[in-house]
Amino acid sequence: MYSGSSKIREWCSSAKIIPVLSIPRLEHAVPLATALAAGGIRVVEITLRSQCAAKAIAQVREQVPELIVAAGTVLDQSDVITAKEHGAHFAFSPGSTLRLMDVAYDVSLPIMPGVATASEAMEWGEYGIDAFKFFPAEQMGGVATLKAFYAPMPKVHFCPTGGVSTANARQYLDLPNVLCVGGSWLVCEQHYANQNWAEVTELAQRAMALLGP
Ligand code: 3PG
Repeated sequence: MYSGSSKIREWCSSAKIIPVLSIPRLEHAVPLATALAAGGIRVVEITLRSQCAAKAIAQVREQVPELIVAAGTVLDQSDVITAKEHGAHFAFSPGSTLRLMDVAYDVSLPIMPGVATASEAMEWGEYGIDAFKFFPAEQMGGVATLKAFYAPMPKVHFCPTGGVSTANARQYLDLPNVLCVGGSWLVCEQHYANQNWAEVTELAQRAMALLGP
């Protein structure tokens, strides 16, 4: 049995919106995270796609303690260990393999694996996991697919990411089996380029007012 699923459910359902951040420069990490927290964001996903990602996770954990920090794009054993060593509260993966889940279990890193089909959700259900990233959400049928999952699997919950934006987030969040939505739409390249953190706070505030708890 894997543990940590219930803690992740709690974090995600209180978050409603989880910005997916691929932070290009380490010096952007703390100001960006501070700006998001000021806008009401409670959980961020920092993807392990940029060189500074692991250090960014560590700095945000230490300097923005009000945020729950998830490591994103956790694909293999080395990513799990990196996430754990840098203090991530939990991890997101776009998919799910037995080996990945085993390593996360071994190092006590709660993980939300990605699934896109009923079979995958059922398979992980056998290991006690009942909360998944639904990825890539829009490409896999979006709201209609999650509605269809709800009828046979009402206890299984999802965090859809991939193609989610303010245009469709409300439809996802209104579903009974959706804990939160994730996406990169809130923070764009120009925010990093201009270091326009005040605008990030404003956008986060607006998104939370529109979509949040
Ligand atoms: C992710 O990288 O986890 C998601 O794919 C984010 O998708 P988006 O860029 O479409 O929001």
